Amino acid sequence: MQQEIDGLKVEFEQEIANVDSEKSLEALRVRYLGRKGILAGLFKQLGAASKEDKPLLGKSIHGLQKLVQETLDAKNAEIALSGDELTPAGFDPSLPGRLPWRGNRHVLAAALDDVIAIFHGMGFSVADGPEVELDFYNFQSLNFPDDHPSRDLQDTFYVDNDVLLRTHTSPVQVRYMENNPPPVRIIVPGRVYRNEAIDASHAAEFHQMEGLYVDKSVTLGDLKTTLSHFAREYFGPAAKLRFRPHFFPFTEPSAEADMTCFICGGKGCRVCGNTGWIEILGAGMVHPNVFSSAGYNPEEVTGFAFGFGIERIAMLKYGIEDIRLFLENDTRFLSQF
Ligand code: DAH
Repeated sequence: MQQEIDGLKVEFEQEIANVDSEKSLEALRVRYLGRKGILAGLFKQLGAASKEDKPLLGKSIHGLQKLVQETLDAKNAEIALSGDELTPAGFDPSLPGRLPWRGNRHVLAAALDDVIAIFHGMGFSVADGPEVELDFYNFQSLNFPDDHPSRDLQDTFYVDNDVLLRTHTSPVQVRYMENNPPPVRIIVPGRVYRNEAIDASHAAEFHQMEGLYVDKSVTLGDLKTTLSHFAREYFGPAAKLRFRPHFFPFTEPSAEADMTCFICGGKGCRVCGNTGWIEILGAGMVHPNVFSSAGYNPEEVTGFAFGFGIERIAMLKYGIEDIRLFLENDTRFLSQF
């Protein structure tokens, strides 16, 4: 009888391997565990066995019963997992999962990070200063004459006679030099305010990046190489700068820099007004009066400074046509970057 039990075990294992549906599984269960099944038959035979054989045979039959039961259960779970019968209607397991909602960096913050990284690479570190500023730092210390038009209420938001919202990041030049001896190599990203009529290219609050480099023999050549390197890194290797003489009270000589038009590559188009060039920044050699107001000796040091609008360079790089988009928080705009 033991042989018969061993044979049944092998047989069962072959049969279960061929089962591939709930139906054939159920048939196998009935054949082995049913009321008139194989195991029931074995227990019946056990009654007729001799007293000595009974305990061992009984154990073998129970072992086979347990094996059959457990194997059937495992197979049942396997079939249920893969079976169509348990899939709820309308559920398509082959569809891709839903992506979780993800925010992204504001295009302006990203542009700022890119610009800062480029100047970091040239050894500049970041400094900052207050947005509510004294007239002294915003104008007087930067060599603005008392009757300079930018001091007009039309252009500047005044808090009172001496206090205003800074109109540029240049006041941080003087604040920084007051507290740090030369050499200086800083950039100053920050928010500035102008009393502007708002349109596609003018905002009442926007961002600038100031740069200041002061040491013993800094030249205009250093200024040109630094800014040309920045333009190539930010706008691509084809970007070229040209410098035009200009006037700023706090630099002498002063220049404005134009970049080859990113739309037409310099041929002339609507965006660049057919000139092939687009103005991107102001710059110059730091005026001796500015060094004096900051407590530096203009006989001992020279330096260059520059300033540009962050919105403006991001608009040029990405072809954004309206400065108001930066503040509207329309996700259709923001998610493109
Ligand atoms: N502060 C100027 C502005 O707001 C930009 C500027 C021009 C900054 C020349 C400078 C500079 O440091 O040297 O338009």
